[in-house]
Order: sequence, then structure tokens, then C-alpha cells
Amino acid sequence: MAKRALIYQIYPASFGNLNFITSKIPSIAKNIQPDYIWLSPFFKSPWQEGGYDVADYKEVDQRFGDLTDLKKLVFVAEQHGIKILLDLVLNHTSVEHEWFQKSRCRDPWYADYYIWLDKPLNWQSFFGGPAYEYDCIRGQYYLHLFDKSQPDLNFENPRVTQEFQKIIKFWTDLGIAGFRVDSANVLSENKLRRGYLPRIPGFFNYFQTKRTVQVLDRLLGGNKLFAIAEPVGGVFLSFTKFRELTRHIFDAAFNVGTLDIADTVLSDKASSVPVRYKKWFRKLARWSVEPSFSLAIESHDAPRAPSRFDTDPKILAMLQFLLPANYPCVYQGQEIGTKNPELGDNIHNYPGVLSHAIYQQLLRSGKSKKDAMKIVKKVSRDNARQPLDWSAFASQAKQPDSVLNFYRKLTALWRTDPVLTCGNLKVKKTTKSGVFDFERRYHSQIYQVHLDFSGKTTSTLAGPHGIILSSKPDQIIPRK
Ligand code: NOJ
Repeated sequence: MAKRALIYQIYPASFGNLNFITSKIPSIAKNIQPDYIWLSPFFKSPWQEGGYDVADYKEVDQRFGDLTDLKKLVFVAEQHGIKILLDLVLNHTSVEHEWFQKSRCRDPWYADYYIWLDKPLNWQSFFGGPAYEYDCIRGQYYLHLFDKSQPDLNFENPRVTQEFQKIIKFWTDLGIAGFRVDSANVLSENKLRRGYLPRIPGFFNYFQTKRTVQVLDRLLGGNKLFAIAEPVGGVFLSFTKFRELTRHIFDAAFNVGTLDIADTVLSDKASSVPVRYKKWFRKLARWSVEPSFSLAIESHDAPRAPSRFDTDPKILAMLQFLLPANYPCVYQGQEIGTKNPELGDNIHNYPGVLSHAIYQQLLRSGKSKKDAMKIVKKVSRDNARQPLDWSAFASQAKQPDSVLNFYRKLTALWRTDPVLTCGNLKVKKTTKSGVFDFERRYHSQIYQVHLDFSGKTTSTLAGPHGIILSSKPDQIIPRK
């Protein structure tokens, strides 16, 4: 049987601090029983980009507590059979990181820690706008594939890799089981530094996969850590290629394209076009047979899925756990069917730098402030970064038909049922209106899955002896 693990993602700001996360571990264990909890960054940071702008990789940001709290968290998690993964943000640091502060002053040791150019290239950043920013202290431009508060590190410099070797050792000595590697496929842009000017400005030119793989190998190859890659770009071809080259490094990998939002994140399309179900289902079916694929329906980078798809959270859960996904990743609050909150109509209620970038881009494209806000409200990832409704956990635990109890049953089945753990996938039907029928077969045993995102028929998992699981247990509507 292929290796498998269930991952649960926590965005620490939604919990407040590390001690509060620790206090919730027993209930996370009971509800989802994850093998791993992946903690999004809680490191020292000016918080320009949700913590993905790290100012010190070995320090817990004051708002979240300290190292003692983290050790406690690791200890309590272990008592509940859960291992902790940290977010390893390799591609860039915060501008406030000591390395950058020294690099911009041309300190000889740090001068080449980042990618500096006298003349900027015409590249666009993932967040929109130029990927080069002028630094008046150094008198040169630095590359930032993401926000300008996140200068890209220069992995051509062996010292940078050595720094991260020390950081990885620091955390693993503390009992961390592994890492989710942020933006894992774009670590090297060596052509850029030789003055290569791509004809088409855009992020696909950044990929320097072979060099990136060498760096990752030096950092993570040949150890027993659990590592999961987050390649950016969302393009399946480059994802497959990257996967092939990094099998010895990563146990699993996400594809941000799963969330059907990566390609369109900076335009209004993500909210104004209806979900293209047929295309999405086929994509998921193709991807999920890759044994190391990590199927995520939600994350801190996308709005809440029940709002995005305007559908019953139980159907989304069935999609995630009934496809052959060996590394499903559940995002905090998904298990109670959390929807987008009402954050109001003022852009200032949206703290994320990306929400502001989308808003500005929409205004530039001619949208009125009102229309631009309507779109931001739908597509903003700030929707998924809010405090959770803790009272909903307690009340749903008592209701037999709640989303939470559905997750409990479904994840238990995912763990133990041989047809779900080992069965092949055969797609039977996909429709534009949101019907996805497929079969899981293990030897002579066949399960039929019927998902209907429109809600017109009941979504079910059926075995040879009848319905095993249904999105509406009290009203099984027969299918035509
Ligand atoms: C991917 C992370 O998931 C996202 O939140 C972040 O903005 C970028 N990497 C840059 O660090």
C-alpha cells in the first residue's frame, strides 16, 4: 500500500497564540485524527505578508508566545499521536531580516545573500506589479517574486543554503517532524542574473528547476524528515516535472491549482465566472492518482470553499476523501463547514497585501470602488484567515448529522476501509452542473460515489450492500 498521511493545517493567527493551539490539540485529534499538523509561519515577522515575511527563522513572534510554548505544543501533539510540521519559507525573507539589512549595506559576508541588479528586468511579481524594487541604501534593485516586503534569497550563494541547514537542524533538534516547503519550485533564477530578459514578462520564466532541486536536495535530501512541497504556478506540467525530480526529497506535494484559484487570483475572473465543474473534476481525477498528491480543498490562500462553490461542505469533504488522495490536507475550520465571514465593504477591513493588490488592479482596470469591493470580498484569502467559531465545534459535536460528525466518519473510513485506501479510480460521469460520479475498485469490491454540487440529488457513497455515507442521511433521493 502506498504511504499515506492526513495533514491538518493551522494558520496560527486564527488561534491567537501557540498555547491556544495546544489547548485545541485534543479536540483536533478527536475530530480529524491527523498524522501531522502543519503550522503556517509563527516566526518573528513584521507581518506585512501574513507571516510569510520572516524576520528571524529561529524565533517565535512575540504575539504567538515563545520557544517554551512551542516545545509544549510539540509535546502535547505527540501525546495525541500527532507530529508537527513547520512552514519553511526558503525563497525569500522579510526586508527586516538581519541578512537583508546587512546585504543592503554591502556587508561583505551578506552582500550576495539576495539578488541585486543595477537595472531592473521587466518581470512581474506573483502579486502583480514589477518584481524589482529599488533600494536607496544599496543603490540597486532587488528581486521579489512576491510582495516587495519579501526580497528573494540568492541560492547561488552557498552561504544561504548553509544558513538554512542550520535552521533545519535547530527545529528538528526541537522535535519538529518535518516541513511544508513554501514556493519550493522557484528558488533559483540564475538566468536573470546573467541579464537574461524574457520576451514574455511573467512568472513562468522563473522556473530554474534543476538548480532549485540541487538546493532542496542539499537541504532536505537523505534525512528522515517528512517534507511536503508547495510548488507555485499551479500548472500541472511543471508540477509533474518537479515531482519527478524531487521524489527523493519530498514525501508529498500540493498543487495550488487544486483550489482553482491560483491562475485567476489577480483578476476578477475567480469570482465572476461560475465554477467550471467538468474541467475541475477531470483535473482532480487526473492529479489524485499521483500517489504523493496532497489534495487540499481549502488553505490560507483561498476563500472558504463552501462559499466559493456555494455548496454543502459535506460534498466537498466527500470529494477530498473519496478520491484516491494519499495526503489530504484539511484546513482549520473546514471540519465545521466554515464559510466566508462578513468583513464589510471597506478595503481597510482586509489586512492582506494581496487583497489590496487585487483591489488596486481592479480599480486600474476601470471598475468602480463598489464593484471592485464586491470582487475582493469573494476572492480574498483574508476570508480564510479569521478566528474560528469555537462554539460551533461544541454544538456540532452534539448533533449526529453535523458537518463535524460527518468529517469524523469520513476520515475514519478513509483510514481503514481497504477500498478507499487501495482502490483504483474510474471516472463514470462529470457534468457542467456539478455532478461527479466515480468508482473505487479493490479486487472484486466496488464502491460507487455520486457527488452533486448543485444539491439537486443527494451525494452518496455506496457499497455492494447499500449506502455507506450520504450528504443527507435522512432523505436519500434515488438517482435516475
Ligand atoms: C505561498 C504561501 O502559501 C502564500 O501564503 C504566500 O503568500 C506565498 N507563498 C509567498 O510566501
